[in-house]
Amino acid sequence: MDLREALRSIPATREFTDEPIDELTLRSILDDARFAPSGGNRQGWRVVVLDDAVLRAKVKEIYLEGWYEYLGQVAAGLTPFSPVNDREVENAARRTAGDMAELGRHNPGFAENLDQVPVLLLVLADLSCLAAVDRDLDRYTFAGGGSIYPFVWNILLGARERGLGGVITTMPVLHEDRVLELVDAPKDHCVAALVALGRPSAPVTKLRRSTVDDFAWVDIVSGRPLHSPPAE
Ligand SMILES: Cc1cc2nc3c(=O)[nH]c(=O)nc-3n(C[C@H](O)[C@H](O)[C@H](O)COP(=O)(O)O)c2cc1C
Repeated sequence: MDLREALRSIPATREFTDEPIDELTLRSILDDARFAPSGGNRQGWRVVVLDDAVLRAKVKEIYLEGWYEYLGQVAAGLTPFSPVNDREVENAARRTAGDMAELGRHNPGFAENLDQVPVLLLVLADLSCLAAVDRDLDRYTFAGGGSIYPFVWNILLGARERGLGGVITTMPVLHEDRVLELVDAPKDHCVAALVALGRPSAPVTKLRRSTVDDFAWVDIVSGRPLHSPPAE
């Protein structure tokens, strides 16, 4: 598939056919994804394929806890879990998770059926491999993930190349200690993502994204947009 076309047409796919994805295919997706860049080429990603039904069900329960808190925040008009949220407002919204769970019971979707997804890849990060250059700044730390998420995105690119689709999820990060224990992760590992993969059950629809003028400028933030026509 043409790379430009792929970049512009990989959605978050959350509905899949029942078709199983064999381990050879999975292996080849990871074999391509491993060429992702990482700080110092430390390649700190680790992948656990969640195969066991009981394990999957447990991870789903952990996912759902975060998911309903997320929905409570959306309902309150927040950007869920933004590092700059007012925590009191956010915590009030998170307390509505029980109501959201009730809605989910009546109208199950991707999250409620997570354990049935054809492939679930738990992507861990080995913290000892991360060049987290912002780790001591007096703000939310951000740079370390840049050594893991290009790999995660490569998984979705590789899936697309094979006619598959999926979605990156981070909801299990909220209660990662429980997830890490389930998969017997070594010390100094954290959860980067849970990636769902499978054969999409619906065709790709057009992606909604901001334009370049909404996020890129020359020299200063909110300055001149790239290639803007000269003033008359
Ligand atoms: C870092 C990251 C975390 C995400 N976490 C979740 C998640 O926990 N659950 C989920 O359903 N989707 C998750 N998504 C998927 C986003 O919701 C999706 O990429 C976005 O809405 C754009 O969707 P689209 O490509 O279909 O337009 C995540 C995406 C990224 C990149």
